[in-house]
Amino acid sequence: MHERTTSDVLLVGGGVIGLSIAWRAAQRGLSVTVVDPNPGGGASHYAAGMLAPVTEVHYGEESLLALNLTSARRYPSFVEELEDSSGTTVGYRQCGTLAVAFDADDRAALDDLHRYQASLGLSSQPLTSRECRLLEPLLAPSVRGGLLVEADHQVDNRRLVEALLIACAGAGVVVEHEAAGEIVVDRDAVVGVDHRRSPMTVLAAGCWSGDLKGLPPEVLPPVRPVKGQILRLTDDVSRPLISRNVRAVVRGRPIYLVPRENGEIVLGATMEELGFDQTVTVGATSELLSDARELLPGVSELALVETSAGLRPGSPDNAPMLGPTALPGLAVASGHYRNGILLAPTTADILAEFLAGADISTEYATFDPRRFTKAT
Ligand code: GLY
Repeated sequence: MHERTTSDVLLVGGGVIGLSIAWRAAQRGLSVTVVDPNPGGGASHYAAGMLAPVTEVHYGEESLLALNLTSARRYPSFVEELEDSSGTTVGYRQCGTLAVAFDADDRAALDDLHRYQASLGLSSQPLTSRECRLLEPLLAPSVRGGLLVEADHQVDNRRLVEALLIACAGAGVVVEHEAAGEIVVDRDAVVGVDHRRSPMTVLAAGCWSGDLKGLPPEVLPPVRPVKGQILRLTDDVSRPLISRNVRAVVRGRPIYLVPRENGEIVLGATMEELGFDQTVTVGATSELLSDARELLPGVSELALVETSAGLRPGSPDNAPMLGPTALPGLAVASGHYRNGILLAPTTADILAEFLAGADISTEYATFDPRRFTKAT
């Protein structure tokens, strides 16, 4: 039988989102406990770490774009402070992104994207095939043209988790390597998790946030797993194949390659609605590899060092849920879908301010978790 422990904040989930919130909340003087059987072992581990608000902009998602852009702007200072606090580096690389087209349809899609980006005041530069190959000489000659987005960068998500764990420890955050069994509700308020007690519990467990015991169903955040199979290759660091993020649609399948400073290239990713399945399949692996080879024939010479499948936390409108729920004592930071690594700095600031007693700014009302749930 455990003793009851208390803290100002209990965070269920120690991925990049949970740890960033924990670090920022602890900096504001709150006592914080993170509960996670394998911190950083969920979507944060599998992600590619692309920070791509401009390349990944979608029609009708302007509020999400604004949040993504805010977070991208905060990245340099977030990284600087995190690297100072942790004494380690996180591979933040301001490398830009090149999206390329293979045929006339892809070219038309990139032209549409460029027009949409321009209408939103976002900067992107259409390039001819020759201009693409001047930037990335090892691209296949069949590339028909592209779009350069100078502002879309990357961070090494795995090093980010390591740095956050160190920074959290330095700020006094307690990380308990245990699964959250049950959220405890008493007199219509959440009072803790299992034997732990706290005036505020935050669900930051990615796609598992909607799968926790103890909560009334109408309060559970409607997150679902969206599987992404993703590969890791190693390149010759002295003669890198590419020097920036490269994306393309090959035979209708989107792919991206994210080159790290240390020679790793992250090649992703599928989008599959298969529940909590994390099987790595022969079909997806071979498609990712053959599409990548079509884009960059030199991929054939690289070492394939990891095959994996992560689960993105999808939400019904592709936007995150940030803030209090209808149940007192319970907040959510989940549903970040394809943008969890990008949105960590802003999510952490929004939640930490709320946890320290402020109201969530009306600027973020679109991301209120209660938009999906009925009042209790
Ligand atoms: N943001 C890239 C992905 O989710 O695959």
